[in-house]
Amino acid sequence: MNRMMVIGTGSALPARVLSNEDLEKMVDTSDEWITTRTGIKNRRIARLGEETSMLAASAARNALAMARLSATDLDMIIVGTITSDMGMPSCACLVQKELGATNAFAFDINAACSGFVYSLDLADKYVKADPGLKILVIGAETLSTRTKWDDRNTCVLFGDGAGACIVTGAAGNQGLLASKLFSDGSLYKLLYMDSAPSMNKELFRTENDGSYIKMAGKDVFKYAVRCMEGAVMTVLEREQVSIQDIALVIPHQANIRILKSLAERLGVADEKIYINLHKYGNTSAASIPIALDEANREGRINPGDFILLCAFGGGFTWGAVLFRW
Ligand code: UT7
Repeated sequence: MNRMMVIGTGSALPARVLSNEDLEKMVDTSDEWITTRTGIKNRRIARLGEETSMLAASAARNALAMARLSATDLDMIIVGTITSDMGMPSCACLVQKELGATNAFAFDINAACSGFVYSLDLADKYVKADPGLKILVIGAETLSTRTKWDDRNTCVLFGDGAGACIVTGAAGNQGLLASKLFSDGSLYKLLYMDSAPSMNKELFRTENDGSYIKMAGKDVFKYAVRCMEGAVMTVLEREQVSIQDIALVIPHQANIRILKSLAERLGVADEKIYINLHKYGNTSAASIPIALDEANREGRINPGDFILLCAFGGGFTWGAVLFRW
């Protein structure tokens, strides 16, 4: 049976670090509050001109190198993002331009923090139809451009970055086993952002033009835990795989308390949940592919391992993907 396999991963983070101590100087907060309530210590912030598409293209180059492919080998580019450089064209088309991926077609997926999981699910359908396709799947964001930097409720949470993977078809029993997506638009007001994105926004902007992220944190927290648990159980049951057989869960990195609560509800040991949000904060669609790349390069993922990805975000959107690596 042909399944979709990941043959290369990559990530890219802006060099600029914004620490909890830096934030203490900007709003009425403390390292202690941020650490205990979120688990975040640092986040990366893109410089002016360091657009989402630039980060996405850097991550893609790293993934292409691992896959030993060149950009012209790509048939398709999907970018999960809610912070594309421009309203039009898509971030994916800008990535195509940047890479010189002249044989690909390219488009974005808007599914907020679930953008990468949604994009993988879609790529899987294409690969099932044509196993020879080489698809670049990216999650990339510059949430710093949509953060209200004088709102302590949200400004401590978000960061910028990009992660990518190259997928293609492979015979055998490895690859994507199951994926399941969900959404519930009726709850959108609990987490949303009004305006269309645009390039070259000033960093740390605070004008009240509505273009920043608004969130009812406590409600989102509860839905995130319940929905990710439900999505994970759905794919496990579908494939008759026990949670105890999972080598690593790579969840969307939003809050350490969400991840611990998820681990507890699933009955999985904390060390099987991959965590890097202390370094990068919540990078929305980028968080899972960045974590996947780090876990892969750290040797935490081995051939034959069952790997679970799960996400939850604005929309609401959520979902899970199960791989046998
Ligand atoms: O990526 C998409 C999914 N997003 C998420 O999953 C995020 C989910 N939500 C969360 O992670 C948490 O709800 C937050 C981290 C956003 C907030 O944590 P919380 O434990 O729900 O805190 P809270 O909003 O209930 O605030 C508790 C207190 C409030 O003060 P009072 O009213 O009790 O006096 C806040 O004003 O903490 C205060 N507070 C802060 N204090 C210091 C809120 N933000 C801060 C801050 N520093 N940065």
